[in-house]
Amino acid sequence: MEVVIAQTPAAVGIIAAEIVTQQLTDRPDAVLGLATGSSPLPLYRELIARHEAGLVSFANVTAFLLDEYVGLPADHPEAYRRFIERELTDHIDLPPQALFGPDGSSDSPNDLQDAGERYEAQIAAAGGIDLQILGLGGDGHIGFNEPTSSLASRTRIKTLTDMTRVDNARFFDDDIDAVPRHVLTQGIGTILDARHLVLIATGESKEDPVARTVEGPITSMVPASSLQLHPHVTVIVDKVAAGSLSNASYYRETYLNRPGWQHH
Ligand code: GLP
Repeated sequence: MEVVIAQTPAAVGIIAAEIVTQQLTDRPDAVLGLATGSSPLPLYRELIARHEAGLVSFANVTAFLLDEYVGLPADHPEAYRRFIERELTDHIDLPPQALFGPDGSSDSPNDLQDAGERYEAQIAAAGGIDLQILGLGGDGHIGFNEPTSSLASRTRIKTLTDMTRVDNARFFDDDIDAVPRHVLTQGIGTILDARHLVLIATGESKEDPVARTVEGPITSMVPASSLQLHPHVTVIVDKVAAGSLSNASYYRETYLNRPGWQHH
């Protein structure tokens, strides 16, 4: 696991954008995994700027969302597909038909189970995800895999914790009752199948989950700690979110002394 500590959230976005740009230079038809939430927004702004400057194209990319709320109308502004369109894909040249997300539009358990299986098949048909962007929940979740999620799980329905619903109420006019209780999310096993994972976390509320993710034991109580099992992970944090990392000076030294040939 490579841990990169940047000064500011904007600097985190630039380092992550560099990784995405490199991936698309190496493979213009790469398969990207996109996360919602506020953490990746500096990355998405930087990618839009690079696209507008002609530095990067998404014309041949396929993209998969991590997760989706169950029961929100497709045109609801906080539906994750709408979110990612508004924050990223409406502003770049990714073809709309190349953007996939789990279908949470039904409230029937059978339909939702089918939607999870269909999503797994779509990811497999695209050849798997090359580069997966991840945020980090305050309770250590990735995607919407809440604590005690199986580390081998695949795309399925999950129930959100109260903590996550409170955290996400800010997107629903601070009305916790408006935050859906159920979601469809890529499983931890699905996420671990991606070839490169880039986890982004910034701000004080991420200090504790970042330390537990990077330096704690692997446990389903901190779903992001499962990243320790993956051979190619880059964790990019700002200095505030890095505040409780006991080996921070080692991570800084490693980054400063990276050999020229080493990519993220
Ligand atoms: C939601 C999303 C996660 C995201 C998390 C953190 O729960 N499902 O994918 O990582 O929020 O969000 P934020 O980056 O806004 O703190």
